[in-house]
Amino acid sequence: MCGIVGYVGDEKATDILLDGLEKLEYRGYDSAGIAVRHPEGAIEVIKEKGRLSNLEKLVAEAAPQGTEGIGHTRWATHGESNQLNAHPHHSKGDRVVGVHNGIIENFAELKAELTDKGYTFYSETDTEVCIDLIDYYYRESGDALDALKHAKAAIHGSYALAILFDDRPGEIWVMRKSSPMILGVADGRAYLASDVPALLKHTRDVYYMDDDQMATLSRDGIQFYDGEGHPIELELTHIDWDIEAAEKGGFDHFMLKEIFEQPVVIANTLRHFVDTNGWIRFKGSHMTPDFYKSFDRVHIVACGSAYHVGCVSKYVMEELARIPVDVDIASEFRYRNPILSEKDLVIIISQSGETADSLAALREAKKQGAPTLAIVNVVGSSIAREADRVIYTVAGPEIAVATTKAYSCQLLVMDLIALDLAVTLGRIDEARVQELLGELKSIPRKMDAILKHHEDYKAIAQHYLNDEHMYYVGRGLDYAACLEASLKLKEISYVHSEAYAAGELKHGTISLIDEGTPVIGIATQPALSEKIRSNLLEVKTRGAAVFTLVMEGLDGFDAIGEITTIPAIDPLWATSLSVVPMQLMAYYVSVGRGLDVDKPRNLAKSVTVE
Ligand code: F6R
Repeated sequence: MCGIVGYVGDEKATDILLDGLEKLEYRGYDSAGIAVRHPEGAIEVIKEKGRLSNLEKLVAEAAPQGTEGIGHTRWATHGESNQLNAHPHHSKGDRVVGVHNGIIENFAELKAELTDKGYTFYSETDTEVCIDLIDYYYRESGDALDALKHAKAAIHGSYALAILFDDRPGEIWVMRKSSPMILGVADGRAYLASDVPALLKHTRDVYYMDDDQMATLSRDGIQFYDGEGHPIELELTHIDWDIEAAEKGGFDHFMLKEIFEQPVVIANTLRHFVDTNGWIRFKGSHMTPDFYKSFDRVHIVACGSAYHVGCVSKYVMEELARIPVDVDIASEFRYRNPILSEKDLVIIISQSGETADSLAALREAKKQGAPTLAIVNVVGSSIAREADRVIYTVAGPEIAVATTKAYSCQLLVMDLIALDLAVTLGRIDEARVQELLGELKSIPRKMDAILKHHEDYKAIAQHYLNDEHMYYVGRGLDYAACLEASLKLKEISYVHSEAYAAGELKHGTISLIDEGTPVIGIATQPALSEKIRSNLLEVKTRGAAVFTLVMEGLDGFDAIGEITTIPAIDPLWATSLSVVPMQLMAYYVSVGRGLDVDKPRNLAKSVTVE
């Protein structure tokens, strides 16, 4: 989720590029850079780690005078956040200079091929590989369009690329796949950006490029090409959002935007970790067969929603890999003197990588000699740096305080680890692995199908606007899903809610059920379907207003109360789908109660204190 900008015209490029990058700051980044072509032709790259102000100082000192250039804010995915890994990247002699959003899946293979052809690399990034690949084809043909076309055919993954060629002054070349690229024109000037806010100051008439398309920007305008390199025309779109709405991509809140981003980030995560042959690969994380065989127990330790990911993973990992899994709240784990040895793998899950209790738990585990693995979203964060091994989720920056897309990516990474472990320990056969991978790949499509009906959840939420107490009940994996559903609701709507293992209700909590008490059931597990149905009937008999989220194919719930369905999927992965309606319901209850959805009271995005 990096940011891209570009400009060609008659004004000083640095001001326009830096201003554009500033407009993309809200997305989060850890380094930034620009490339400007001097009036005499040479391209100068200036980049720096950290805030934009660091880059601005360097730009002020170098003061390049050119009127064309590209810029980038980086959210690290390949390689830590430092000056070398920052964009723009360049091929030898600055022949090709470019910025990139997205992930090149086969960058390791391409890097090896380019190394054989004599290329050397200065950074750890997939982007540098991509720029060298374009350089290679450009050297072969001397034709920019042809070079992009060939590179496009060789690259697997997602990209929005903006490229300068040293011998093509006055031109910026772009191409995109599964990563946004928006272009704008205004007499004698052309602009590009990965997100609308960076363009609004200059133009409100923009072109949205589609997958596989390429384009060249110049002072004469923009020429678009289809995937084969044939000239095409795109339709102009007029944007009438204000800047705040534009930052949210037209959504009312970041939380809703991030809920809607889930199908894309899940698809990206799958592409990142599952290669084209259907093998799970945690590149660079040293998840070797020897490592998997070195422990005989797993402890998952985290806080809040990340802890709920652990609760789901316990079921999944124990089921698939038949290895015992404990789940702990980090603030408890760190003080309870846990019994650990080198045979216990401790997995710390954290979006921010800075949560104080999770970091302390990691240190406790290391002190006791347990191997540690961090599942983290923010590259280079404290937990990522201190853990023995790290796997990064590729959710991109999450801005709303209540996590949604990071939660979903954490869950997916844990699913993949469970599968990989099960394969290595010989606990699953190849056919079942491929079946389960196929089902994982269906998640983005099925999430899209749920999101298409998001207004239904708005209608359902209206029933709960005045309730002060709610109960979420489920069994097995659905109980774990209830924990997250309940937290989502309470943290942004301030409605008191509790998640209960349905079978546990009659051991106390059922005495709270009264006429009209709202109870939300989640029922996605065929093996437990009858059991949860009986539990829901029990609360209905005592007056509860029951609403159940049911997986397609499970019957009998409509006789108990209102229902809504999610698409059928292997029950092991059902929580990845059931969480989406629950996020939407929490969101719409919060909106309906007129609350600050993105910044709920008393909460912070990163909890760096105990
Ligand atoms: C809830 C939420 C929190 C976090 C928790 C851990 O929506 O976002 O419960 O999950 O504070 O944060 P990280 O994952 O950054 O360690």
